[in-house]
Amino acid sequence: MKNRSLVSIDDLTTGEILDILDMATGFEKDPTRQLLDNKVIATLFFEPSTRTRLSFESAISRLGGKIIGFTDASSSSVSKGESLNDTIKTVNNYSDLIVMRHPVEGSARYASEIADIPVVNAGDGANQHPTQTLLDLYSIRKTQGTLDNLNIFIVGDLKYGRTVHSLIMAMSRWNTTFNFISPDELMIPKEYKIYLDNLGLKYYEHTDFTDIISRADIIYMTRVQKERFSDPIEYEKVKNVYVLRNTMLKNTKDNLRILHPLPRVNEIHTDVDVNKKAYYFEQALNGVYTRQAILCTLLGLK
Ligand code: CP
Repeated sequence: MKNRSLVSIDDLTTGEILDILDMATGFEKDPTRQLLDNKVIATLFFEPSTRTRLSFESAISRLGGKIIGFTDASSSSVSKGESLNDTIKTVNNYSDLIVMRHPVEGSARYASEIADIPVVNAGDGANQHPTQTLLDLYSIRKTQGTLDNLNIFIVGDLKYGRTVHSLIMAMSRWNTTFNFISPDELMIPKEYKIYLDNLGLKYYEHTDFTDIISRADIIYMTRVQKERFSDPIEYEKVKNVYVLRNTMLKNTKDNLRILHPLPRVNEIHTDVDVNKKAYYFEQALNGVYTRQAILCTLLGLK
């Protein structure tokens, strides 16, 4: 898989996904092999990020690579009116791989068609976030011992949550039962329901999950994506619609783990943090190993 971009999780076969997870397991045991010696990775973040950017940069640094890039479009020549086309053509000349986050859906695919080097989508608007999904799969497999036949509850902003969209597409490969919990305003978009229908997979939609929480293997909480709302009043109506509290976890399965791509706002009360079923900070750590595996895979490095 040399010089291939990763724009959508569906750019990877199931075998390639499992190879990346296995390679990430190796990096968890030894994250400091100098595999990126002499490699320059560009991290272009046109939108804010903590985990994605810093875990990529930690992954690169630990493997001996060099990082160039920007954390804010206002510090780049985009602020002078430069197009994405010209930015990518320029950065293509300075680096071996581009990691890009951008607010516009489809921007990563566009960049991948311009660049000669691999482009990794670090989130394009409300569309996809495939590297988050790979670390989510790593976290699910590590905590459940399998990816097969799990009952996953996805809670919150299913409309704008790009991590949700990529996760659904990925988990559909392992006979997952999906429970989608959202307010009516933030329901899962029709295209993802059609995607699951075409695969013959079961999914259930709810507006509350307190009565069914005992069935969950994974609860994947998500933040309401304030930045995607055009009307702040609409955001205010739904911003605190779900708050997971420790008391709600009393009668849940032993194997249940709580995941969240983070950042969290109010949707997981801090009293959950001490529960052994809370896994979101370990999940974020898994991002380093998984992104090391993604970089090496896309650069054709063993
Ligand atoms: N999960 C995630 O994408 O977090 P950041 O926005 O902090 O990168």
